[in-house]
Amino acid sequence: MNVPADPLTRWRDLVLSARSERYRPDRDLAFWQGKAADYDHTQPALPNTVSWLRGDLHRTWSLLDVGAGTGRLLLPLAGAVAQATALDYSPDMLAQLRARGALPHLRTVCCSLEEAPDQVPVHDAVLAAWSLAYQPDLRPALETLRGLSRHALYLLEDDGVGSPHVQLRRALAGTPKPGRARLLREALEALGWPVTAQTITESRELTFTTTAELLAFARLPLSEAQSLAALKPYLRQEAGGWRYRWTFEITVLRVACGAPA
Ligand SMILES: C[S@@+](CC[C@H](N)C(=O)[O-])C[C@H]1O[C@@H](n2cnc3c(N)ncnc32)[C@H](O)[C@@H]1O
Repeated sequence: MNVPADPLTRWRDLVLSARSERYRPDRDLAFWQGKAADYDHTQPALPNTVSWLRGDLHRTWSLLDVGAGTGRLLLPLAGAVAQATALDYSPDMLAQLRARGALPHLRTVCCSLEEAPDQVPVHDAVLAAWSLAYQPDLRPALETLRGLSRHALYLLEDDGVGSPHVQLRRALAGTPKPGRARLLREALEALGWPVTAQTITESRELTFTTTAELLAFARLPLSEAQSLAALKPYLRQEAGGWRYRWTFEITVLRVACGAPA
């Protein structure tokens, strides 16, 4: 009888199965350096997630965002805390963050998660949003994050159900996006850590003035008629072109780290 592997092993297997080999830090860093300039144009804002985190960060003095990227979450959260730190190993992602707004109580630290305990002090709360995806050894990464947090650790992930066109493209290619949120939660539970999970729904809307523009964006290996039929539940044709809208879910895993704030 096959005994299912424990969640930490399944996470490791998932990471090591990536054809991109981004589990090699040099590969992942090169990826983010190349992505930095257009990251903000391709990623949706997350207003509902920010609003939930803001509520939960009530009375939190300092917040460290590990893998902060261009500050998509940390910049809108910075107003809720007295001290905010953005840590990332990509200098170009951090340069984008600084270009978006300098705040007197926000500092950036360019180093890896592994180096973080030597570079930043313990903060009241630590956030890591989609920054563990290529860490094969989840346990030491989680322990480092927890060690940096006095009260709460927030881990954000999703289960791979994002935009309909990417989901369909991946399904047709036989490469569905992995469900990391569920696995991460199972890993935390297997470690016996006190974790609570919150599912937050976000939405995204894009407009296209022509059908050709919409199809070029969706890049589906289908005919025009097939593509429009597949995306029909999310499309509305208007005088100015097409409105394409979908919703997606984000999981916030909150680990209690010590005495309550
Ligand atoms: C998917 S992006 C997420 C950025 C941001 N958290 C957001 O939600 O928009 C992942 C970020 O984590 C950073 N990152 C990944 N692994 C890291 C590591 N081991 N140490 C430091 N930063 C890391 C990458 O450089 C990248 O900026």
